[in-house]
Amino acid sequence: MKRFLDLGLQPLANSYIKKNNIKLKEKKFRLSVGFDKKKYLVSILKTVSKEMMFNKNYPYKSSESKTMQNSFKNLAIKIKKKYKPNLIVEIGSNDGAFIYNFKRKNVIGVEPCKNLAKKTIKKHYKTYPEYWDTNLSKKISKIGKADVIYSANTLSHIENLDEVFKAINILLSKNGILIIEDPSLLQCIKNNAYDQFYCEHIYLFSSISLKKIISKYNFEIFDIENLETHGGSNRYFIKRKNCKNLKIKNSVKKEIKKEIQYGLKNFSTYKKFSNRVILSKKKLQKIFNKLKIKKKKIIGYGATAKSCTILNYCKIDNKFIDYFYDTTSYKINKYLPGSKILIKKYKKLNINNVDFVYLGAWNFKKEIFNKEKNFIKKGGKFITHIPTPRII
Ligand code: TYD
Repeated sequence: MKRFLDLGLQPLANSYIKKNNIKLKEKKFRLSVGFDKKKYLVSILKTVSKEMMFNKNYPYKSSESKTMQNSFKNLAIKIKKKYKPNLIVEIGSNDGAFIYNFKRKNVIGVEPCKNLAKKTIKKHYKTYPEYWDTNLSKKISKIGKADVIYSANTLSHIENLDEVFKAINILLSKNGILIIEDPSLLQCIKNNAYDQFYCEHIYLFSSISLKKIISKYNFEIFDIENLETHGGSNRYFIKRKNCKNLKIKNSVKKEIKKEIQYGLKNFSTYKKFSNRVILSKKKLQKIFNKLKIKKKKIIGYGATAKSCTILNYCKIDNKFIDYFYDTTSYKINKYLPGSKILIKKYKKLNINNVDFVYLGAWNFKKEIFNKEKNFIKKGGKFITHIPTPRII
């Protein structure tokens, strides 16, 4: 594993601070990112224990995003129509946004964050409040093998990929389908979206890396969909190599070709990306400095885990951003880790009390710009760092 990017000392991205704890010293760790030439795999170099990140205080809820809900609903329709599964298991079922699209008897959730698992259990959806591993998959196998295993934005959060795929191998039926969805490395590099790197995102998969990883377990990718979610994701459809009734689609070759042509097999590509990140930091700092000299009022929009990386790496704190708006109830009246910027309950943007809005949730730009049409019409401006820092 060769390091190409150093994002400095960072707090845990989703550890929002309560007012009473604002003076306490935060735990920090060095966030650096490396490339494994053999597996073509990009990952963060120092990881934090899963218990520290995924516990009963986990704030992210997929149901709170319309974009994610629609994405899950459309996939569920496709799964039911195409594969007619008897049993679907979701690894990382969060607060149920995906599993609620199925009948209770056909679906099982796995969710180690107990605050989230509690929600689906309360609605009588079978949910295991446990970490995904071979013990759990053996336990679920006793109920039945899964015809579809789905996991969105979860497998890239689990350090031990060998355990992950061994466990999947145990539970998946002979002709079963594994669907994995995670941010795309190619999109991240192209967009200079270095905020895709934070403690929870241990890996950033590409199709070339995933192909290598799963091959060991006799799995292969037979279809890839490019999605807009989470700033550009890939949905990989995977089968057992010996399952002959599913043909490998052209989309796989196409995606692999795109990645190789862009240079995702070469360390030099990552080094260039790292240089662009340093420039991006300088440019963003310049924008904030200039606006502050002019005494402009700046707030943030969407207190994402991604923002944590940006704010701490670029040293943008509550001297630059007065507060963030966010719709997530758990985050409201807490402070962003590291930068200690207050998070307030979302209100429609008003040009009379805000000049510039830093787009923390840039991956929801369309949804947000649509919601804030009036603010934009009246001359309200946003600051973004994607793909390069600018005012829009
Ligand atoms: P998300 O991008 O899913 O992020 P991450 O994985 O980086 O934490 O989080 C989106 C955040 O933005 C979430 O806290 C909700 C917030 N948000 C708003 O406050 N308003 C909105 O209109 C949207 C779309 C999101």
